[in-house]
Amino acid sequence: MAKARLGVLISGRGSNMAALLYAARVSDCPYEIALVAANDPDAPGLMLAAAEGIATFGQSHKGMKRAEFDAIIDRELRAAGCTHVALAGYMRLLSPEFVEGWANRMVNIHPSLLPLYKGLHTHERAIEAGDSHGGCSVHLVTAELDDGPVLGQARVAILPGESTDSLAARVLIAEHQLYPRVVADWIRSGTKSTLDEVRDRALALPEAREKTSHGSQGFHVEGGKFFAYFTVNHHGDGMTALLVKASGVEEQAMLIERDPDLYFRPAYLGPSGWIGIRLDQGEVDWTLVEDWLNRSWRMAAPKRLTKLMDLADQF
Ligand code: GAR
Repeated sequence: MAKARLGVLISGRGSNMAALLYAARVSDCPYEIALVAANDPDAPGLMLAAAEGIATFGQSHKGMKRAEFDAIIDRELRAAGCTHVALAGYMRLLSPEFVEGWANRMVNIHPSLLPLYKGLHTHERAIEAGDSHGGCSVHLVTAELDDGPVLGQARVAILPGESTDSLAARVLIAEHQLYPRVVADWIRSGTKSTLDEVRDRALALPEAREKTSHGSQGFHVEGGKFFAYFTVNHHGDGMTALLVKASGVEEQAMLIERDPDLYFRPAYLGPSGWIGIRLDQGEVDWTLVEDWLNRSWRMAAPKRLTKLMDLADQF
């Protein structure tokens, strides 16, 4: 199969870009680096990429409107034939047009265990909060900052008396392990990801809409309640799962007892009678997923909509 062509956007040092670049030199890597671009022509990472024989592009964003600058980067990525984009220490907010243009094909690495500590000063905030661990997350890029579905995380212990710099240095080692691996898995999983499969079914329900919430992809009825969440390694649980509403905690307990490999009690929504369905246990039973989405949607949807569905069901 042809390799995916990854465009990497950087703003400075570019050590994550280097991790991606050297991982791409291993023969079974499913991507190659097609372009390294920076919003600073003097970014040290550009020099390294050029020395490694990679095409580079550097231009300052100063004095330009965000969308105008992003359009230039977009043009360069497309001219280089990029199929996917990885942000690697790219310290620029992106315009909605740019994000939309690379929807589901752009990832970012962020130095915290998302959904904790979006934005800047992540290590400082983790130490100040007295957290036992910091870490890093790779997530799909959506319109909101550091908010798209998390594809993978690595935890890093915070030592007693740890300084921001020493924690940042160790998290960076973790980033270099995590990023190439998650990008490779994400690309290997192909165009139709498990999330795409869930999304197709969830959004087929009347007035269903999608929104990210606490690092997960959520599905809700327009202007109303959520009826499903797609979670990947939520709070480090290591699972890919769909969370939907069961009729209550009794049914939840019954389901888990009946099939503990498939069903589980989700950490936060469990007490409200939600049920977790694992999607990472081999072949997924998509009919079952569809039935659950339907049921859960009915519980969240207003009467006006469920009545229509009941009528339709009679025919
Ligand atoms: C990395 O720690 C990366 O996670 C962080 O910037 C650093 C870039 O280092 N990114 C962010 O904070 C994005 N919100 P690098 O240039 O050596 O890869």
